[in-house]
Amino acid sequence: MGKVILTGDRPTGKLHLGHYVGSLRRRVELQNEGDYDRMLVFMADVQALTDNADNPEKIRRNIIEVALDYLSAGLDPKKCTLFIQSRIPELAELTTYLMNLITVSRVQRNPTVKTEIKMRNFEANIPLGFFCYPVSQAADITLFKATTVPAGEDQEPMLEVARELVRRFNQTYGDVLVEPEIMLPANLTARRLPGTDGKEKMSKSLGNCIYLSDDAETVWKKVKGMYTDPTHLNLSDPGHVEGNAVFTYLDAFSTDADFADFWPEYHNLDELKDHYTRGGLGDMKCKKFLNQVLNRMLEPIRERRHAFEQDIPEIYNILKKGSDAAREIGAQTMDEVRKAMQIDYFNDAELIRSQAEMFKK
Ligand code: TRP
Repeated sequence: MGKVILTGDRPTGKLHLGHYVGSLRRRVELQNEGDYDRMLVFMADVQALTDNADNPEKIRRNIIEVALDYLSAGLDPKKCTLFIQSRIPELAELTTYLMNLITVSRVQRNPTVKTEIKMRNFEANIPLGFFCYPVSQAADITLFKATTVPAGEDQEPMLEVARELVRRFNQTYGDVLVEPEIMLPANLTARRLPGTDGKEKMSKSLGNCIYLSDDAETVWKKVKGMYTDPTHLNLSDPGHVEGNAVFTYLDAFSTDADFADFWPEYHNLDELKDHYTRGGLGDMKCKKFLNQVLNRMLEPIRERRHAFEQDIPEIYNILKKGSDAAREIGAQTMDEVRKAMQIDYFNDAELIRSQAEMFKK
């Protein structure tokens, strides 16, 4: 098996534009380029439960939302295996064995875990399952022998843990697991899209998201209210594009074709930025253009979503089939893992034969 692409999301909410530019759009491209032997995308419900143990209903409700977002963004179950993490019990088994190969202090040093512990006020009381999720995530990746993990920068420490665990496992038990590499978003704006309020990050808890499933009216309302440049008070004032969310979004989403079709006065974003910076260009015009850009991109996604929403049982069917397929792959790796770890007792005819001889007097 050559190139195996694997990635996933916690199903804790609908996906928004930050998810789309940060990873979903790239996944669809990767899927359609076809340069891989296998591609898997999954919903990390087990991981989501590590900090939502008392709120399973939230996870349950969002499985279908995320599945609809995946499918409407263009992930195609014929090309990529879509599955649900908890449907693969082999993941729990592998996690258990990997936990023996890493120390508590190593996990404590993980910067992403550190930040999340602070964010969730877990300092005094860290759920053990939450603390161990980097190991569980290493199992997600290695059970499928993934080589390539498209993910954001914040996942780099998780990949480091996974690589270390692969090396430890292979040194200790023999070559079974494969070292994965992270595939970061190509462009910088895509790595962290700010919220509509201009805050550093688009995030559900900050209430500053545009969702893939928002209708055109909602998108326009949100775009109209976007944070721009607080010093740009009069039309003639020079404007600033840095830190101006409208321009950050245009950086992430607009194309020269959008200018040709919607705003031919400018050939490209650089010309628009020049005018804005010189002064004499109002925010509202820029917002109207951004709205057109976003809607052109979102409309086909909305249409596909609408179609998929008409047959929800079929979506569950897709996820079940994907989960069964993923489980088969995982079961194969676990056979190799158990053999390497010498816990494949019943499959080892030689063990049984030699012990039979030894014990018989
Ligand atoms: N930690 C990822 C997130 O918060 C989700 C995830 C779980 C994941 N397992 C993974 C991503 C394996 C890539 C590979 O978004």
